[in-house]
Amino acid sequence: MRTQVAIIGGGPAGLLLSQLLHTNGIDTVLLERRTREHVLSRIRAGVLESGTVALMQQAGVGERVNDEGQVHEGAVIAAAGRMQRIDFSKLTGRHVTIYGQTEVTRDLYEARDAAEAVTLHECAGVKPHDIDTDAPYVTFLQGGKVHRLDCEFIAGCDGFHGPCRQAIPEARRTEYEKTYPFGWLGVLSETPPVASELIYAGSERGFALCSMRNETLSRYYVQCALSDSPEDWDDDMFWDELRRRLPEEVAANLETGPSVEKSIAPLRSFVCEPMRWGRLFLCGDAAHIVPPTGAKGLNTAASDVHYLFQALKAHFQNKNDALLDSYSTDALARIWKTERFSWWMTNLLHRYPEQTPFDIALQNAELDYIAQSTAAQQALAENYVGLPY
Ligand code: APR
Ligand code: PHB
Repeated sequence: MRTQVAIIGGGPAGLLLSQLLHTNGIDTVLLERRTREHVLSRIRAGVLESGTVALMQQAGVGERVNDEGQVHEGAVIAAAGRMQRIDFSKLTGRHVTIYGQTEVTRDLYEARDAAEAVTLHECAGVKPHDIDTDAPYVTFLQGGKVHRLDCEFIAGCDGFHGPCRQAIPEARRTEYEKTYPFGWLGVLSETPPVASELIYAGSERGFALCSMRNETLSRYYVQCALSDSPEDWDDDMFWDELRRRLPEEVAANLETGPSVEKSIAPLRSFVCEPMRWGRLFLCGDAAHIVPPTGAKGLNTAASDVHYLFQALKAHFQNKNDALLDSYSTDALARIWKTERFSWWMTNLLHRYPEQTPFDIALQNAELDYIAQSTAAQQALAENYVGLPY
């Protein structure tokens, strides 16, 4: 088997890259470890930067997000006794779009079907070879047989636990990591959202987030201990805890119902440098992770896809490799700024086990500063809606 770009991993990064290349006449084969049903059953965040929506449009999957995505022109920070709306439109002239990552993935798979693009599911033991030569290839096991896929480039879109990052020699790879001493317990419920915009809440009992997928489907989170498991939290406990962390007037409006999904995610910041080794290019969670507080997971994956797509297009269409050579530097420059923002939002709103009264006073001072300073609100808003590519 031969293709121009072998893509490892069929999450949002791999799917979006493949679709963009396909619409520009560049051939790809996508190898995914799990079934399509499994990939589509993962519930992830749902806030899209306008750059991410623009990429979807370029990839030919902009129709449903245009029709069904909700434009949000602001969000609320509820902490230190006040509800502060951050007016994205006024402060930046831009907005975000609420549209679940699961829907992004579904749209991309449907577009692949229509384009008859090659997706191989349930590939085991996927391994990149000879990435530092001009003739890289990938081997994998599927249907009881070992296959070989020859290619010109390999895109490692295989998420945090995939094999691609490890293919960069350990001695030449630097990994930066920060773990946080808490997790997020998330609940999806078929109830109308408590408010029309997202509410990020900081409280003495810890962080909480009110988010949504549409008018009848809500997504809520509370900060929890890393040792907790979802079975420790029945629905009533979850709703009670959420109410306690929200301003009274918000809690009074909360409509509760049975959870249709409940899960706990640990929080982590992680960056791998470089993001390229020879003909292997890392994209998305394979190279970096952000804590979910700034809603940047999918958007950082889309950002890498933007740079890699432009670079591969310049290579195949104009025989120009300048963007391939600067891919790692270009992608990382934006990633580190997003890492900083996600870390900052996390620190601003969570309770830490070892936090001193001094630390809490600083959090309150920062919240007060945001409430009083248009410049501070603007800094928050321009990061939240997404920095330019
Ligand atoms: N072989 C083939 N595919 C693999 C392998 C492997 N060895 N290991 C992992 N994969 C697949 C996973 O099954 C998954 O479908 O790679 C895909 C990676 O997808 P994501 O983890 O979603 O990562 P990415 O596409 O970079 O998207 C980043 O999506 O999942 C969220 O939290 C994530 O919001 C972030 C964004
Ligand atoms: C979500 O809707 O799941 C969501 C929204 C915003 C975040 C994180 C998650 O910051």
